Amino acid sequence: MAQGLHLIWMILCVHLICISSQQEIEFIYNGFSQADLYTDGVAKILTKGLLQLTDGSGQKMGHAFLKKPFEFNSPGSFSFSTHFVCALVPKPGSTGGHGIAFVLSASMDLTQADATSFLGLFNISTQGSPSSHIVAVELDTALSAEFNDIDKNHVGIDVNSLISIASTPAAYFSEIEGQNESINLLSGRAIQVWVDYRGGVLNVSLAPLKIQKPSRPLLSRSVNLSETFPDKKLFLGFSGATGSLISYQYILGWSFSRNKESLQALDVTKLPRVPSHKAKKRNQQRCLLFSLFYWLL
Ligand SMILES: *[C@@H]1O[C@H](CO)[C@@H](O)[C@H](O)[C@H]1NC(C)=O
Ligand SMILES: *[C@@H]1O[C@H](CO)[C@@H](O)[C@H](O)[C@H]1NC(C)=O
Ligand SMILES: *[C@@H]1O[C@H](CO)[C@@H](O)[C@H](O)[C@H]1NC(C)=O
Ligand SMILES: *[C@@H]1O[C@H](CO)[C@@H](O)[C@H](O)[C@H]1NC(C)=O
Repeated sequence: MAQGLHLIWMILCVHLICISSQQEIEFIYNGFSQADLYTDGVAKILTKGLLQLTDGSGQKMGHAFLKKPFEFNSPGSFSFSTHFVCALVPKPGSTGGHGIAFVLSASMDLTQADATSFLGLFNISTQGSPSSHIVAVELDTALSAEFNDIDKNHVGIDVNSLISIASTPAAYFSEIEGQNESINLLSGRAIQVWVDYRGGVLNVSLAPLKIQKPSRPLLSRSVNLSETFPDKKLFLGFSGATGSLISYQYILGWSFSRNKESLQALDVTKLPRVPSHKAKKRNQQRCLLFSLFYWLL
């Protein structure tokens, strides 16, 4: 009897070890309260589980990475799917900027990168260099002429460079309308983003919070991740940056899987709320103070 239990226990252990060494990387964060992320710069997890990439200050950047690297052995079968929800809230009185990116990087240390149009991904010397080992999906809310940006509200796929290999104005394919509907990245409202990679093709889709994943991706482009990551190891995370254009940039939830089929859907009812950063509030407070003042007189 005891021996039998022993055997079962041993089999279980071997099983567990096998599973963990097999890179079980699959997770879902409906808010980041329970998440163990590496953060730097102005990035941090706020009390209600909201991941803040940038606060209301200018010329700043923030990064958040999953601490465990993602490894792929057979490049041919390498695939992943991810779904996240973000919100970009312009600072009252400022034009919002600069933008955020979903990042695949050989290193978690991007502290030597620059803010503003570099989006916390590159600096002047790493921009355009194959030794950067960075692939990113940018949600760019500023027009940076030096990087051939198409407008100040676009989505792009970046490979070792901020000059995107593909970019398009932020939009989603509406099944009901049968056409593309544009999305204002700086609306302050939650936006869903999906990134799917399989067979060397990277797809990006966007949609407002209440809309299902569109049947057609917004961007679809060949990307050879084995080429960008010769060590077959990468870190997954987010970057955000501000300049003289400032936004509060948040990630509300994040789901990831090696497999499109087993990707868990985020529960939008469990996501943290996006704080409103309205100038109105301060005026209201001021009004209240004034009325109190008069009342006292
Ligand atoms: C750019 O970043 C690299 C690596 O992150 C660093 O070694 C280099 O000193 C930085 N260069 C500038 C000009 O900041
Ligand atoms: C929607 O936008 C994408 C990306 O710009 C484009 O490839 C596609 O043709 C557009 N679809 C429609 C129906 O306009
Ligand atoms: C990417 O989009 C293309 C075109 O819509 C589609 O054929 C392909 O299956 C998609 N790949 C993934 C991994 O979603
Ligand atoms: C991707 O890059 C790797 C490494 O450079 C190469 O061996 C492979 O053939 C490339 N795959 C495709 C589909 O181009």
